[in-house]
Amino acid sequence: MLPWVFAINENELADGEKKLLLLEDKTILLVRQEGNYYAMSNKCPHMGCPLSKGNLEGFIIKCPCHDWKFDVRSGEFLAAPEIKAPVYDTDISEGKVFVKMDGEL
Ligand code: FES
Repeated sequence: MLPWVFAINENELADGEKKLLLLEDKTILLVRQEGNYYAMSNKCPHMGCPLSKGNLEGFIIKCPCHDWKFDVRSGEFLAAPEIKAPVYDTDISEGKVFVKMDGEL
């Protein structure tokens, strides 16, 4: 299995937008902010709700179920950073966005 998996074409997501993806059987939340892409597990570390249905403000995604807030850059729960959602490296090549699926932290 190749670690870098094609996610989307770069022009599919505008700054400040998010998208739910299924990559290698995992649901991934992809966010574009300030021209960079951030990928994290879509599954909230609290009780598994889909983070893609939450509100995104800057780099912070708020879980729709119990309002826990996570930084999409690190996957950290703001109130207790030791609780983290897995995050994945991203890369852009020739207008395509790739996610490194073995990059779990
Ligand atoms: S399931 Fe996300 S905050 Fe509870």
